[in-house]
Amino acid sequence: MEKLLVRGGNRLKGEIPISGAKNAALPLMIAALLTDETLTLHNTPRLADVALLQKILRNHGADTMIAGKKPGQSRFVGDTVHITAAEIIDTTAPYDLVSKMRASFWVLGPLLARCGEARVSLPGGCAIGTRPVDLYLKALSRMGAEIDVEQGYVIARAPKGRLHGARIVFPKVSVGATHVVLMAATLARGETVIENAAREPEVADVAECLVKMGAKIEGIGRSSLRIEGVERLHGAEHSIVADRIEAGTYAMAAAMTDGDVLLCGARAEHLSAFIDVMASAGVMATAEEGGLRVRRANGALQAVTVETQPFPGFPTDLQAQLMALMTRAQGVSSIRETIFENRFMHVQELVRLGADISLMGDTALVKGVEALKGAPVMATDLRASVSLVIAGLAAEGETEIHRLYHLDRGFEALEEKLRAVGADIERVAA
Ligand code: UD1
Repeated sequence: MEKLLVRGGNRLKGEIPISGAKNAALPLMIAALLTDETLTLHNTPRLADVALLQKILRNHGADTMIAGKKPGQSRFVGDTVHITAAEIIDTTAPYDLVSKMRASFWVLGPLLARCGEARVSLPGGCAIGTRPVDLYLKALSRMGAEIDVEQGYVIARAPKGRLHGARIVFPKVSVGATHVVLMAATLARGETVIENAAREPEVADVAECLVKMGAKIEGIGRSSLRIEGVERLHGAEHSIVADRIEAGTYAMAAAMTDGDVLLCGARAEHLSAFIDVMASAGVMATAEEGGLRVRRANGALQAVTVETQPFPGFPTDLQAQLMALMTRAQGVSSIRETIFENRFMHVQELVRLGADISLMGDTALVKGVEALKGAPVMATDLRASVSLVIAGLAAEGETEIHRLYHLDRGFEALEEKLRAVGADIERVAA
């Protein structure tokens, strides 16, 4: 077991390279199951979730290979991963693998589309809410799939081996359900229209890669997607989009310490709602050549009122980090979580560091305090964990963060990146 020690007080200054997006890397790797040719993904982040997904893909018969670094290449340049699913040898995704990472449930789409059948364990994943799969199952049945849920497994079959196109109107925006239907539709017979599709940049990144693989997709980046199914997809090469959540996280780390940081590779157009919230908080995030520069406008942080929304709104994946930042703002912030009902587990841990936060249903009221004080805390989920790091960077004394496996699922080289801009942070045996 390991823990992180963060000694607060240092201002972050310098450059932080932003990795490829975890939330694009995972569905892109899964998309490799749609073709018997090789999919090559550049800029793949080195994360526990990526390693686990490789294992899951291998279980279905895919070969996955990570190309070595070229001499002299920066440690922060992402990996190139080659995935070849020449033959699908097993259409079952077992509980022991799927339960470790919710996104692995998404293999359901490609397996069903390519093989006409799939048996996929219901997912586990982050403990941030009930996270049902009804939207996936209703949409796939509209595409002709016969679906049973038995003993914790979704068993899906396409009559005569192939799904057909359909008009899918999602009653609610779901990133995962959009990925799955989009992937399934590329190989279905006829046309599929997805209304109220997720517009997250990671969904657009996957759609762009699918087009390189031979898929016919219109409306990329919009809430209405039109997909004309093709007989087969082929191999392709794709570079994974920069991680807007990682960028937003380091932006808030910089703001928390009154620092000045260039987030190399970050894309302002993927962060516009976040940038607006930062502006009201007194933090300037401006697009520059090479990335996004972040520093405080002048002086203290100001309280904000925010609610999480699907893209292009303020992302739920930055809610915990914003809460950490607002613990040091002047005034009372109101942060409403509308996507996941149980995504406030970081509150009690931030309170341990001296934050003043009260919860009223889906809204947290955060009253800024003069100072936070270091304490031992526990990481509870991926984004919550990093909110504790942000708080620790501004806390007096030492913050000890336990249960790092959550952090390692989603943030590549976190301590190295933060240390390089001046943070006092180290990983030690717990
Ligand atoms: C993805 C992201 C996650 C992010 C989330 C919302 C990845 C790997 N994960 O998760 O980081 O926090 O989007 O931006 O990309 N829902 C249903 N029924 C369903 C499916 C979803 O009710 O069948 C609900 C969920 O419970 C939740 C909401 O829809 O309330 C949005 O969830 P969804 O967008 O599906 O999240 P994920 O794709 O799991």
